[in-house]
Amino acid sequence: MIHQGKVRIFSLLILSHYAMKFCIGGDVITASEYIRDSGSIISSGGLYRLGFFSPNGTTNRYVGIWHNKIPAYNVFWVANREKPVLDSSGVMTISDDGNLVIMNGKKDVLWSSNVYTSGANTKAQLSDTGNLILFKQSSNMTDDKEMVWESFRNMSDAFMAKMKLSTNVRTKEKQVLTSWKSPSDPSIGSFSISLEPLNIPEIFLWNSTTLYWRSGPWNGKVFIGVPQMESVYLDGFSLVDDKEGYVYVTYNFAEVSYLSYFFVRSNGELLQPFWDEKYKHWRIDWSTKESACNVYGKCGPFGFCDDKKSPICSCLRGFEPKKVEEWRRGNWSSGCTQRSLLQCDRIKNDSTKAGKMDGFVRLENVKVPNYAIWSSTLEDQCREQCLSNCSCAAYAYDAGVGCMYWRGDLIDVLKFSYGGTTLYVRVAHTELGGKRDLRAIIATAVVVATFLFSIGTFFAWKKSKKQGGKDREQFSEVSSENVLGENLSKVNLQDLVLYKLEELAAATSNFSDTNKLGEGGFGAVYRGILLNGKEIAVKRLSRASGQGLQEFINEMVVISKVQHRNLVRLFGCCVERDEKLLVYEFMPNKGLDAFLFDSLKRQQLDWRRRFNIIDGICRGLLYLHRDSRLRIIHRDLKTSNILLDEELNPRISDFGTARIFGGKEDQANTIRVVGTYGYMAPEYAMEGRFSEKSDVFSFGVLLLEIVSGRQNNSFIEEDQSLSLLGLAWKYWEEDNVLALVDPQISVRSFEVEIVRCINVALLCTQELAQDRPTISTVISMINNEIVCLPSPNKPAFTERQTTTDTGSSRQSQKKYSANNVTLTALEGR
Ligand SMILES: *[C@@H]1O[C@H](CO)[C@@H](O)[C@H](O)[C@H]1NC(C)=O
Ligand SMILES: *[C@@H]1O[C@H](CO)[C@@H](O)[C@H](O)[C@H]1NC(C)=O
Ligand SMILES: *[C@@H]1O[C@H](CO)[C@@H](O)[C@H](O)[C@H]1NC(C)=O
Ligand SMILES: *[C@@H]1O[C@H](CO)[C@@H](O)[C@H](O)[C@H]1NC(C)=O
Ligand SMILES: *[C@@H]1O[C@H](CO)[C@@H](O)[C@H](O)[C@H]1NC(C)=O
Ligand SMILES: *[C@@H]1O[C@H](CO)[C@@H](O)[C@H](O)[C@H]1NC(C)=O
Ligand SMILES: *[C@@H]1O[C@H](CO)[C@@H](O)[C@H](O)[C@H]1NC(C)=O
Repeated sequence: MIHQGKVRIFSLLILSHYAMKFCIGGDVITASEYIRDSGSIISSGGLYRLGFFSPNGTTNRYVGIWHNKIPAYNVFWVANREKPVLDSSGVMTISDDGNLVIMNGKKDVLWSSNVYTSGANTKAQLSDTGNLILFKQSSNMTDDKEMVWESFRNMSDAFMAKMKLSTNVRTKEKQVLTSWKSPSDPSIGSFSISLEPLNIPEIFLWNSTTLYWRSGPWNGKVFIGVPQMESVYLDGFSLVDDKEGYVYVTYNFAEVSYLSYFFVRSNGELLQPFWDEKYKHWRIDWSTKESACNVYGKCGPFGFCDDKKSPICSCLRGFEPKKVEEWRRGNWSSGCTQRSLLQCDRIKNDSTKAGKMDGFVRLENVKVPNYAIWSSTLEDQCREQCLSNCSCAAYAYDAGVGCMYWRGDLIDVLKFSYGGTTLYVRVAHTELGGKRDLRAIIATAVVVATFLFSIGTFFAWKKSKKQGGKDREQFSEVSSENVLGENLSKVNLQDLVLYKLEELAAATSNFSDTNKLGEGGFGAVYRGILLNGKEIAVKRLSRASGQGLQEFINEMVVISKVQHRNLVRLFGCCVERDEKLLVYEFMPNKGLDAFLFDSLKRQQLDWRRRFNIIDGICRGLLYLHRDSRLRIIHRDLKTSNILLDEELNPRISDFGTARIFGGKEDQANTIRVVGTYGYMAPEYAMEGRFSEKSDVFSFGVLLLEIVSGRQNNSFIEEDQSLSLLGLAWKYWEEDNVLALVDPQISVRSFEVEIVRCINVALLCTQELAQDRPTISTVISMINNEIVCLPSPNKPAFTERQTTTDTGSSRQSQKKYSANNVTLTALEGR
């Protein structure tokens, strides 16, 4: 939040009664309707006010524009920054030459809009966007107004909605935002912000002429060095090339009432406050001071900044400090240097000693270095192109930008906790040795796959001879669905880190019980801490479980392909001796079930949070179903498979049972039903048919659980024979759905939204798959883009399923609700 005391935009300007009385009240300034120190003008919609003010700590008078309706005001624009009026004698008026001017009592002109107006009749008007515009009134007495000057073109330190921060590509003329000198002095300070359209457009924050912060390249939607932009500003920002030499960046909030802007403080901090109407104060959405790593080039060339580490600077892998002594003292400016000669250099020195090819170290979630060079190369050739050019030091691929590569020093690389880009840094082959040769794992995986595949074929063959037993059913799926043969070729195992068994054993105190987070049919999950301090969750497949191996490969295949903020991240794996382990990011807040079904923790989940979780699950699912190039059906959505990060954002986990579809398939049959009772769509539970719509069904159940705070499988006090679905339907028919809502939620202000969610949940859980909406429709529905929702048909499974029912089915469910990572136990085969 912005404390009054913290921001330079300080103090309340308490307009005195005196000032109020002398308000002109209009929105124009002309030669006859000028304003005195005590007066002001207000934009026609009442949003902005222009008048005289004094910053905190000085009695100097300046003319500024601030928000009219907000008591704790921020000044967005100041006219006479360099020359204040020293007493209360100032006026703002139109001078004889048609310019807007500020004069003191002695009629000295302290500031002028300073444009050529050809002596025309002009007037200034304050618009409802906060822009002060000087118009030429046409002499032929029509309503035509020609703009000759505007405050949006002569910005102070604030970048407001609809402003255009532009740069002329030809003349290099730039519009800049400039900070104040100090909180009490609006004159031009040392920090400025400009749009640099060279190569790939980017926003730079300068300390005089030294680069102080950069936004990272523009990718068509966001600046990729500002991960926070992903969620908040996606719709708002645009970069425009006006084809007349100007390139500008501008933004606009979809919601008109959302009051927020960017500004640069006199200390060089760039931040985004927004007005919280509920609590009546400015809150900070985002600031460059959030991380010490944001200072440009903090760790020098080839340095790597991670503010979660101490010290924050280290060298990129394969590099070592240039000046060890200075580095040790915490002076990182000299940066790092390559530890081993690259192949090109080796050849240069002695052409017979080429040795092995260089490779790349993969860095995830980073801000890419400065001075990216754009290449039209496609994704799959980006790597090859970099490898084949001796001067290429690193490359990265962003779907929006395309292929980027770097020459020379890599500077300003820093680690984000989420978002950012994956960067590949070139190193000598010998530097890759630390982790086991990737080819070894691929070989292992291929052997495993071939092995499984042959078993599969063997059993399939056997099955055709004899009549099937349960084990055979299970294996025959391997060949009939051809999970491995097909998918393994798709997996890009190089994207995964290979961990050593000792490393993981050390991280988890030798897989001790105290570190165990949970246990399921495939094995146990442990919490671990790597040597570098990174927390991980390790899933160790039990040696005995033959079926686990398939899930292992499957999970690796699926998850190595998907990356989304609402999906849990796989860091890597380990296949050593007969051990198979998967390493994930650690989610401190465990599963959604641990919150939702815990009477204490549940209180943390107010409706806003719950809605955020619902929305996040939808977006993760949409990504699986539609966005990622392969279509993925999760098949086991449930509360315990939704993990929560520190901010209670949801991440879908456990892809052990997920299925990948090729381009055109959209439904499949399986002999092997995996999933969890209570969440399974009828066609899947009964006939083994699954599709996106079976995931939608599970999502519907989940949605009801989130809204009601009850488990689908738990007893409903009111009516023991009804499942949660049945109860929801009952209330729906009685037109009393709010009775279903968790009493923890204060319904009043969100009633419409909650009813809407229940309606959507019922649409999702309809008996017939074709009646259920797709997940993208669901998103439109819950976000009110589809206003009129259809009425649902009666859902499936309205009667309670008891444990004895499931006993006779192909599987029963075990829950490990207290676990961070949960597994679905497969039993009773
Ligand atoms: C403004 O000045 C007062 C009195 O000196 C001080 O208490 C207050 O913190 C100042 N506010 C800001 C924003 O500097
Ligand atoms: C009025 O003058 C403006 C230029 O000042 C011109 O563009 C416009 O066509 C004129 N309108 C009429 C009706 O003459
Ligand atoms: C903006 O105003 C300053 C003086 O306050 C002036 O020096 C500068 O040239 C103006 N810039 C533009 C683009 O008009
Ligand atoms: C900005 O640069 C000046 C010198 O050019 C330096 O003294 C000052 O510390 C810098 N400010 C910050 C915040 O780094
Ligand atoms: C840090 O290192 C740079 C270059 O090696 C040197 O010029 C500078 O004086 C050092 N700064 C400090 C504070 O030691
Ligand atoms: C080139 O080879 C010579 C002799 O083998 C060696 O002394 C020198 O350090 C090498 N140069 C580089 C840049 O490695
Ligand atoms: C290597 O990259 C440099 C710098 O971009 C470029 O000038 C050169 O043509 C490239 N060489 C090859 C062989 O592609």
